[in-house]
Amino acid sequence: MISPDMNQVRGRFPALAREIDGRPVAFLDAPGGSQVPDVVIEAMAGYLRRSNANVHGAFETSRETDALIDEAHRAAADLLNADPDEVVFGPNATTLLLSISRSIARTLGPGDEVVVTRLDHDANVRPWLLAARDAGASVRWVDIRDDDVTLDGSSFEASLNERTKVVAFTLASNAVGTIPPATELVRIVRERTDAIIACDGVHLAQHRRIDARGIGADIVVCSPYKIFGPHLGILYGRRDLLEELDPYKVRPASDALPHAFETGTQNHEAFAGWVAAVDYLARLGGSRPNRREALAASFTDLIEPWERELAARFLEGITSMPHVRLYGIADLGRLHERTPTFAVRVGDRHPFETAKLLADRGIFVWDGHYYALELMERLGLQETGGAVRIGFCHYNTPDEVDRTLEELAGLG
Ligand SMILES: Cc1ncc(COP(=O)(O)O)c(C=O)c1O
Repeated sequence: MISPDMNQVRGRFPALAREIDGRPVAFLDAPGGSQVPDVVIEAMAGYLRRSNANVHGAFETSRETDALIDEAHRAAADLLNADPDEVVFGPNATTLLLSISRSIARTLGPGDEVVVTRLDHDANVRPWLLAARDAGASVRWVDIRDDDVTLDGSSFEASLNERTKVVAFTLASNAVGTIPPATELVRIVRERTDAIIACDGVHLAQHRRIDARGIGADIVVCSPYKIFGPHLGILYGRRDLLEELDPYKVRPASDALPHAFETGTQNHEAFAGWVAAVDYLARLGGSRPNRREALAASFTDLIEPWERELAARFLEGITSMPHVRLYGIADLGRLHERTPTFAVRVGDRHPFETAKLLADRGIFVWDGHYYALELMERLGLQETGGAVRIGFCHYNTPDEVDRTLEELAGLG
């Protein structure tokens, strides 16, 4: 049962589309890309209709575009607790990481080491492997624990030494939902090395307010299209680091931060949608004069507790289904260590077959490896199709959890 407090919370989330061609559907695919509120769509259309232009012109629409770009940086800075000039936009998180890893590779050399994990999406693995390859540096891997698919703390510590120059780890696994203790991991790295720390916040950002400054990492990426906004990528870079690095850029482009790292013409209509998405998130928590505080409150007071109830309901439901095998934290007392994203196998069905059966019943979930390639290989699932990913977020309802449980029960 949903607690009375939570029933009040429910009324605060706007209704999003739950039908396709008149057929009711449950979107449980937010870890792959979230649904978008109407205000976001309208802001994008409004920009294209009224203000569409390139930057730094003498005319009105160009000046509006300049102002919008500044506002998009401020919105991201408010969401991530950073300064606007530490926020770099790009087409997606992967491109931004590949791009900055080239600049960082120039600071590496033979004998240096980079550390990556088996829990991460390939977007925060491969760029660092390529950087190490190009610089002649070595790679160390952090393992996961078999029982609950969390990062193995002793493997993490053992990977660090005075030669470590980059440490990359995720703030949450897009495959199994694990949330590593980021602030603690950063503290351990800082005690032992002067490495650049790159965190992948792409999955976490739709579930928790990410405090980039509080975590203390040098780089944090996230993707607006998973935070109820349009297709874009964001890279937070600590100012000192961005100032030290040599960006790959064309000559006429600005040398000032953050634009030196923003190559080419940006997606201005998506910036309009992004600002609307951040404002939508800020408004969920009620009206507060300060957007930064409002965002923090929306996540802590509404999104997190609501999602925790959905997660508990789902976990309780599958405990009575021996044919559903969960990979990841199952303990109801440890919901703060995971997002409501669940990787499962149902009987001996291929994950695609399970996802298709659910899709036929109007429940949209992912199957496969979702680019968390190392993890699926490490779990021994990759060869047989990965896993089914059922991912809830704040706009999902207890009824959708129950419908999903009913369908899963029927697949036994
Ligand atoms: C955890 C995680 N990191 C990185 C990415 C890559 O993000 P983008 O699509 O913005 O490149 C994804 C996308 O699914 C993801 O889930």
